[in-house]
Amino acid sequence: MLMALFTVYLIVAFHLEAKKFSELQLPYFDGNWRNAWQSAVAYLPYMIKNAFEPSPLQDFCIADPSNSVLKFLKNVTFRAAMVNGLACKDPKIAEATDFFFTGLHIMGNTSNKVGSKVTPANVAQIPGLNTLGISIARIDYAPWGLNPPHTHPRASEILTVLEGTLYVGFVTSNPENRLISKVLQKGDVFVFPMGLVHFQRNVGYGNAVALAALSSQNPGVITIANAVFGSKQAISSDVLAKAFQVEKNTVDSLQAQFVLPKM
Ligand SMILES: *[C@@H]1O[C@H](CO)[C@@H](O)[C@H](O)[C@H]1NC(C)=O
Ligand SMILES: *[C@@H]1O[C@H](CO)[C@@H](O)[C@H](O)[C@H]1NC(C)=O
Repeated sequence: MLMALFTVYLIVAFHLEAKKFSELQLPYFDGNWRNAWQSAVAYLPYMIKNAFEPSPLQDFCIADPSNSVLKFLKNVTFRAAMVNGLACKDPKIAEATDFFFTGLHIMGNTSNKVGSKVTPANVAQIPGLNTLGISIARIDYAPWGLNPPHTHPRASEILTVLEGTLYVGFVTSNPENRLISKVLQKGDVFVFPMGLVHFQRNVGYGNAVALAALSSQNPGVITIANAVFGSKQAISSDVLAKAFQVEKNTVDSLQAQFVLPKM
């Protein structure tokens, strides 16, 4: 009986999905339970596949970090829905500033050890980006400045050089670990695939500027040197000495650059 009910549920669900999957020629119930059950099982993978919805499901969900879940539960009249881990601001009170950021015309301060500065415009700066899967950043480079090797765990990146000359590259994953690199001039565009370690270095004589578009409202950044040698607490130098095949004191001096407490 339970099996029959589940089959009915699946058949109804399949029919609701039939539009999207018309190319599969989904079977309609012909009164034969055995056939129906077999069909249901056969098409289950397509249902599971379709359970993932990559589009935003609504016009927008302006991130409203001031709305805690607790408030949402206590105040029954409150309209916020939680999407992507953040409460959505009531769309009726959405305004232009929710979708707005100013400042990418301002040169970043590159007076630091690496000689580069990223000015992000992601969901932290533009709450209206929440659930939309895109963001942007300005990157400034002093002469010979470096945006050091890093990855974006949640985004691919497409970079446009606005000014200057950049040597850029990324490394493919194991086992090839192939460096794919190029020198870019003003107007050139280069892609860094999701999750891969990449970098840019200013190899021109003046300052350089680039605009990076990313396929996530919250791309995340893992700077390799900071993560490996600058973690809080520090990773044991025994671990890093073996991983990098160097002496422990080489690891100590690398870790000392980040001035962190040792474990
Ligand atoms: C629910 O919250 C909204 C917004 O904070 C407030 O205007 C309203 O009065 C609250 N309703 C109740 C029943 O507490
Ligand atoms: C740039 O950053 C450096 C180092 O943090 C600081 O000393 C300097 O005042 C900053 N320059 C400007 C124009 O903000």
